[in-house]
Amino acid sequence: MAERSSFVVVANRLPVDEVTTTDGERQWRPSPGGLVTALHPVLVQRRGTWIGWAGGDGEAPEPFELEGIKIHPVPLSADELERYYEGQSNATIWPLYHDAVETPVYKRRWREAYRLVNQRFAQAAADVAAEGATVWVQDYQLQLVPAMLRDMRPDLRIGFFLHIPFPPIELFMQMPFRAEVLRGLLGADLVGFQQRLAAQNFVRLARHLLGLRYEGQSIQVDGRKVKAGAFPISIDTRDMERMAADPAVQARAKQIRAELGDPETIILGVDRLDYTKGIELRLKAFRELLADGKLTVGDTVMVQVATPSRERVEHYQTLRVRVEREVGRINGEFGKVGVPAVHYLHQSYSRQELAAMYVAADIMMVTPLRDGMNLVAKEYVACRADAGGALVLSEFAGAATELRQAFLCNPHDPDGVKEALLRAVGAEPGEQKRRMRLMQRHLRTHDVASWARSFLTELGATDDPPAEH
Ligand code: ADP
Ligand code: G6P
Repeated sequence: MAERSSFVVVANRLPVDEVTTTDGERQWRPSPGGLVTALHPVLVQRRGTWIGWAGGDGEAPEPFELEGIKIHPVPLSADELERYYEGQSNATIWPLYHDAVETPVYKRRWREAYRLVNQRFAQAAADVAAEGATVWVQDYQLQLVPAMLRDMRPDLRIGFFLHIPFPPIELFMQMPFRAEVLRGLLGADLVGFQQRLAAQNFVRLARHLLGLRYEGQSIQVDGRKVKAGAFPISIDTRDMERMAADPAVQARAKQIRAELGDPETIILGVDRLDYTKGIELRLKAFRELLADGKLTVGDTVMVQVATPSRERVEHYQTLRVRVEREVGRINGEFGKVGVPAVHYLHQSYSRQELAAMYVAADIMMVTPLRDGMNLVAKEYVACRADAGGALVLSEFAGAATELRQAFLCNPHDPDGVKEALLRAVGAEPGEQKRRMRLMQRHLRTHDVASWARSFLTELGATDDPPAEH
């Protein structure tokens, strides 16, 4: 039987992904996305157990230890991967919760797999958690786990955090098994969201759908109290600052600038290749500014890192085609021999290489149509110790609530995006510095450790890294 822990995190993703290389070798690789970026330092500090899927299908690897974290892999079959992960999680819930910017697809067989896999994760948590332990369930893939786990282990303190937006009632009501999802979440003692508005949506929904009362700051459920609140997630700011200051990263940043032909302005985008991220509209804004003669190839270059993501889901396949067509169009119309207008990189990078890109970039464009938080925006700010650079940020990213000194724009308005980009390009160094410094000051106090602390304190879990049983 697995060793029991008094602090357990349950997430669909583990911090590492088991992949098979082209020569058939099995390798562990850091997992993509903001959830892992945020939780990894928290788990390293608290030395708990992380339950999650190891990537791939078939049998799960044996539990093992990684940087003091006990890793407890959960298996997914090929069929479950298709129905629970690609289907229900990423073709139903993901688009629905992101303002339905792509049309959500509803399928009964996906929901059934979602239920089954959530049960498996709940069982793994029930097996691993010590008596009275704190179990922190993460994100939209596992919304049924809190109630399932409470049924099995009423002694546990259960928290849930949603990393993505929580939709308004009108959208949520589309979902066929909506009441079951809501009851799943209400199995937690505390349900955390990125934004206050999301927490309000949740409380209203509980009243609307299940007739539950909100009294004394909590929802009353079967004689229990369930709290809901906003806990905006963040990054390990000091660690990011340290990494960016590393001489090797600084040297690499210079080298990147040189490799790009030492242009006056480097515009950078770093996103998972996801339709919520507004990659296409960003490219379009850049193309129109080139066509208007407001920006010139040679003086300005755009680098778009588009990390491969959810590649078997149809929405993602069509997005890739559209993005790559747009990149081709821009380079075809405006590039010169040896001087492309857009450098498009459909690859994963080490954290150091990403930090070097952030240091090298004059303008960072973060233009999601909707995003729970967006850690890339925060990482860019943290990397600019020189206080150079400018952040163009969508009002529809959670980060916009905090990074008020960014050049904010409405991603649904192409002229607004172009205007924000031009303002960022034309900003005086003094103004850029003032904006950067204010945002950096905010991130130093609002880092990922303070996020975890405030959530766990509200949950009533001890702040100290717990002793292991
Ligand atoms: P999401 O969680 O939706 O992917 P975030 O911006 O919140 O969006 O988080 C993305 C995380 O993934 C960041 O920590 C970023 O540094 C990392 N990341 C994005 N692209 C890459 C890449 N190509 N290689 C390595 N890490 C990446
Ligand atoms: C977002 C989600 C995470 C997810 C990540 C990467 O950050 O909130 O739950 O892990 O994207 O997506 P993936 O599907 O590769 O896990």
